[in-house]
Amino acid sequence: MERWQNRVAVVTEASSGIGAAIAADLVKAGLVVVALARRETRLQEIKKALQADQQQRYHPIKCDVTNEEDIKKAFAWVEKDLGGTDILVNNAGAFHYGVNLVDSDNSGVIHKIVDTNVKAVAFCVREAFNSMKKRDFAGHVIIINSVAGHTSERFPGANMYIPSKHAVTAMAQTYRHEFAHAGTKVKSRVLALELL
Ligand SMILES: NC(=O)c1ccc[n+]([C@@H]2O[C@H](COP(=O)([O-])OP(=O)(O)OC[C@H]3O[C@@H](n4cnc5c(N)ncnc54)[C@H](OP(=O)(O)O)[C@@H]3O)[C@@H](O)[C@H]2O)c1
Repeated sequence: MERWQNRVAVVTEASSGIGAAIAADLVKAGLVVVALARRETRLQEIKKALQADQQQRYHPIKCDVTNEEDIKKAFAWVEKDLGGTDILVNNAGAFHYGVNLVDSDNSGVIHKIVDTNVKAVAFCVREAFNSMKKRDFAGHVIIINSVAGHTSERFPGANMYIPSKHAVTAMAQTYRHEFAHAGTKVKSRVLALELL
């Protein structure tokens, strides 16, 4: 972990669940963490519960990942105030159960899942990668995926969740090629989690 001391990790959806746990582990391990979520007060509470030295390395930022401008602003702040993104943990993933793809009036759910699980990944990875590339830094892009999100028979009524997690698998492959083709040593890793 020596190489990562005081390096900057951006974690999406960090105010609860898996994202909050990852952010806490990274700050404890000595990294500077930028925690993104919509509930800023929740992020501030998490910060207050950290040890004093860790609090200084934990930066909460209000960011709705379904809003591209929020994403751009958050990464621009990291660039200006912290020098750039060294690690991205793209944990963002919305799940909405009990609505089928063929149900009428399901547009809201479809937009939310695609915006969070696919488009937000594309926007966050783009911003993080370009920060790493311009500094010639061999950073890491980690995308949280789902094992169950690849098996539609286990999740009837999960509408766009399963297609979105297949998209994440394909995106991670694409990133591996694009990062190498761009002549960088940035690594793309996808972690497929099993249902908790
Ligand atoms: N939990 C599981 O069993 C499981 C299994 C396999 C894979 N996964 C994957 O793991 C990842 C995290 O899952 P999780 O279960 O920890 O999620 P979760 O408990 O539902 O986490 C929700 C978090 O996401 C934030 N969030 C939701 N919408 C947001 C938005 N538009 N912009 C910014 N933040 C947003 C929420 O904070 P705010 O409300 O403050 O924004 C909260 O911090 C997902 O990619 C999921 O697909 C989970």
